[in-house]
Amino acid sequence: MRHLNVKSRFFEYRVVTGCGAWRELRALDRSRYSTLFVLTERKLWRRWGGSFKLTSGLGRLPEILVPPGEESKSLKMVERVVKELASRGADRSSLLIAFGGGVMGDLGGFVASVYMRGIDCIQVPTTVVAQVDSAIGGKTAVDVGAAKNLVGTFYPPRLVVAEPRALSSLDLRTFRSGFYEVVKHAFISGEPFCRFLEKWLSKLTLAHAAALEPVLARAAKVKVEVVNRDEREAGLRRVLNLGHTFGHAIEEATMYRRLLHGEGVGWGLLCSIRLAVLLGRLSGAQAERMTELVRKVGRLPSIKDLRVRKILDLLPRDKKAVGGRIHWVIPERIGRIIVTPDVPLELAARAFSEVQRLS
Ligand SMILES: NC(=O)c1ccc[n+]([C@@H]2O[C@H](COP(=O)([O-])OP(=O)(O)OC[C@H]3O[C@@H](n4cnc5c(N)ncnc54)[C@H](O)[C@@H]3O)[C@@H](O)[C@H]2O)c1
Ligand SMILES: [Zn+2]
Repeated sequence: MRHLNVKSRFFEYRVVTGCGAWRELRALDRSRYSTLFVLTERKLWRRWGGSFKLTSGLGRLPEILVPPGEESKSLKMVERVVKELASRGADRSSLLIAFGGGVMGDLGGFVASVYMRGIDCIQVPTTVVAQVDSAIGGKTAVDVGAAKNLVGTFYPPRLVVAEPRALSSLDLRTFRSGFYEVVKHAFISGEPFCRFLEKWLSKLTLAHAAALEPVLARAAKVKVEVVNRDEREAGLRRVLNLGHTFGHAIEEATMYRRLLHGEGVGWGLLCSIRLAVLLGRLSGAQAERMTELVRKVGRLPSIKDLRVRKILDLLPRDKKAVGGRIHWVIPERIGRIIVTPDVPLELAARAFSEVQRLS
């Protein structure tokens, strides 16, 4: 088990990852809280609720159930959850436990940040994406219409407990797709993590939680280190968006139906690698290694039919654009990622078209 410390502007909190992480909740000072609530999805809670309650020692836990899927990240759902909390007696000293993937984490974190001007929140991530990325760092959000994460807050959790055993019930595609984010973290981190992943990804399997432990812990550590240096995304934290400018455009162009988020990031990583080469910033040899690592995660759904024009139109709509200017996140080599506004759109178009041909 690994304990990592995150420094937020309010307080320090721990990210505990590894087999047995839920046990960490036994040390929770319950006298601080009037009531505890868990926000989760029915099927997921049916599968893991019993084991969670037992391992965490939390016993009876009133649950608030919301439907799975991105649609639950809405202001309407925020209102529903808030009303339910209120009607069930939640007050300023209540604690909300967000139990699930990035959707539960983002929604739960957001609700906790606004309910009675803020109640404590604990994140219990149950997907790869959530364990290595979304549950760490305190960014919360909901979508408004088609605009993803348009409304949100920076609101750190009190604790994050990531149990890799909980990943065993994920379907293989969702499980795998989280590893594109892991690869992204390896690119940010540097050679040692990439070399480790190159070997490890060849035997990527759902089977052994214990085998997942070191990979997930390393990937989580990359996120923790970046957040510790730049909690509110003033600069450095932008490197975490590697692959996401293209990725979001591709997800949007396919109406969020064809690709899982991680798969969008997979294509996005390939595009940013290609773009870096076209800009003369990344060597061919490095690009080849990086591309190989992305492709090792698995087969990506085809994007052959997407029109370049459409992708170009969607790029500046990325939330991370400032004044219409895109902050391009470009790999210069493994372990060195830069952010620059200076990328001609024609080159971005060329990078996309060349990558598209791979599909
Ligand atoms: N806040 C951040 O910093 C941040 C970072 C990255 C992504 N995100 C957000 O995270 C979301 C994506 O997260 P995600 O990929 O975890 O999606 P998700 O929460 O929708 O989970 C994916 C699917 O897996 C199911 N599931 C979850 N845990 C399971 C388990 N243990 N066993 C079986 N099924 C399980 C869910 O019901 C869902 O169908 C997006 O909304 C994205 O915007 C936020
Ligand atoms: Zn992502």
